[in-house]
Amino acid sequence: MTLLEVRNLSKQFGSITALADVSLSVEAGQVHAVMGENGAGKSTLIKALSGIQPASSGSVSMRGEVIAIESLADAAAHGIRTVFQELHIVPQLSVAENILLGALPRRRGLIDRSERDRVAVEVLAQLGVDLDPGRPAGKLSRSEQQIIEICRALLGRVDLLILDEPTASLGEPETRQLLDIVRRLTERGVGVIYVSHRMNEVLEIADKITVLRDGNYIATHDAPVSADRLVHDMIGRAPGELYLHEPVEPGEVLLDVKHLSNSSVHDATFNVRAGEIVGVTGLIGSGKSEIARAIYGLDPVESGEVRIGGANCLGWSPARMLKQGLMYYPSDRKREGLALNRPLRESITLGALKRGGFLAGGLIRAKQEAAETEQLAERLSLRPSTTAAPAGNYSGGNQQKALIARGMIHRADVHVFDEPTVGIDVGAKADVYAQIDAYARAGAGVLLVSSDLTEVIGVSDRVYVVAEGRIQAELIGDDINEAAIASHFFTES
Ligand SMILES: Nc1ncnc2c1ncn2[C@@H]1O[C@H](COP(=O)(O)OP(=O)(O)OP(=O)(O)O)[C@@H](O)[C@H]1O
Ligand SMILES: [Mg+2]
Repeated sequence: MTLLEVRNLSKQFGSITALADVSLSVEAGQVHAVMGENGAGKSTLIKALSGIQPASSGSVSMRGEVIAIESLADAAAHGIRTVFQELHIVPQLSVAENILLGALPRRRGLIDRSERDRVAVEVLAQLGVDLDPGRPAGKLSRSEQQIIEICRALLGRVDLLILDEPTASLGEPETRQLLDIVRRLTERGVGVIYVSHRMNEVLEIADKITVLRDGNYIATHDAPVSADRLVHDMIGRAPGELYLHEPVEPGEVLLDVKHLSNSSVHDATFNVRAGEIVGVTGLIGSGKSEIARAIYGLDPVESGEVRIGGANCLGWSPARMLKQGLMYYPSDRKREGLALNRPLRESITLGALKRGGFLAGGLIRAKQEAAETEQLAERLSLRPSTTAAPAGNYSGGNQQKALIARGMIHRADVHVFDEPTVGIDVGAKADVYAQIDAYARAGAGVLLVSSDLTEVIGVSDRVYVVAEGRIQAELIGDDINEAAIASHFFTES
């Protein structure tokens, strides 16, 4: 049975057409994936269907009846629930309060706490997740926060569940868990719109796949369909090589970390040499990102050494680390990244005005700033390729590219990336890997923290596997494979 029918949906932002005449239908009990490059219009389609940004024209029907979706409440009334790409978590509130945000159960006018926690635990259990409902949400990892968003969507009546890059910040086991949840829901007859850049999981879960490009409808394929076909549809030409890295003879040690410890990292000892790409992987919550944060001075450290260029930089501030030659690329663009209301170029040159040579007599050399950022934008195929629009107007993946561009303005000796390709499309991934490779070739060192095993295996010369805040193994050469890495994901105890 056809659940949702979208006809000729269009959306204009001023002179920009984000979506042009897109039509698709979703069957009850089926997963319809939507793929496309960054800025293709996927989130725009979803925002129109969920009422937070109504379409400019076109029609939407549920079960054959045309419906008007002008607000989130309209969508919810028709059983359409959405998990958005950007998370909406109130850090001060607890897990349970966040799940039931805006729908807290009351008794005699007061919030019924035990009912609230009961509902929260119940929906968490539905997903097979063990999270303390009383924990402040701000203390959770991004993947745990994502789970809260999914729980929220599952609270009311759900006929159509829309997921916008639900696994973007999830590791392998959490992704499995999410796909299981999706399967369970489709067995109940729920229809699912599934937006993702991860080819493997789309091929695994989708019954139908629609590809958008530059806001236009390109094609709908029934599964199974080849990855090459989809990539071809997405980028409009045959796919090229994704990983380019040719190992070079490593030089001197650029980053030397010994016995680094804090509340989440225990006795971490590792190094990065000139010309090397060193992967750091592990499950979500393993402490791999915390190692990077501790080095860069974002989290407090307790003991150990972090040596760059002979100096022990343990506990230095991020600004000092940057001066010392270490650049860090955060994974969470919303929290650590962008000034959403200011032109994107300002987010790119943030903190680099002096080093990048953009200052003259205390004034910003705007022309040069524009020229250089636009050059970077082109190298990363940022879209739109101007950097003048407010950062908030760019699609999620393009915002991520802006963060990468920010790092590129600094001339660093060591580049530390935390999940650099989360949410970016295949074409842009290739651009990022090429950039990482270029750094290594030029004699810099790269530390690549990532949950994406294919990526880690594809580009790393050496790999450290982290579990429970400790480095469990160092893998080199042929030992860098999925089985070997996964065998260190869990500790003995
Ligand atoms: N509020 C806005 N104002 C102006 N342009 C916008 C706005 N929101 C989106 N756009 C533009 O619409 C186009 C489609 O964006 P959309 O967010 O739908 O892309 P997407 O397919 O979800 O990409 P991604 O994979 O990067 O998340 C982009 O070119 C984007 O810059
Ligand atoms: Mg998007």
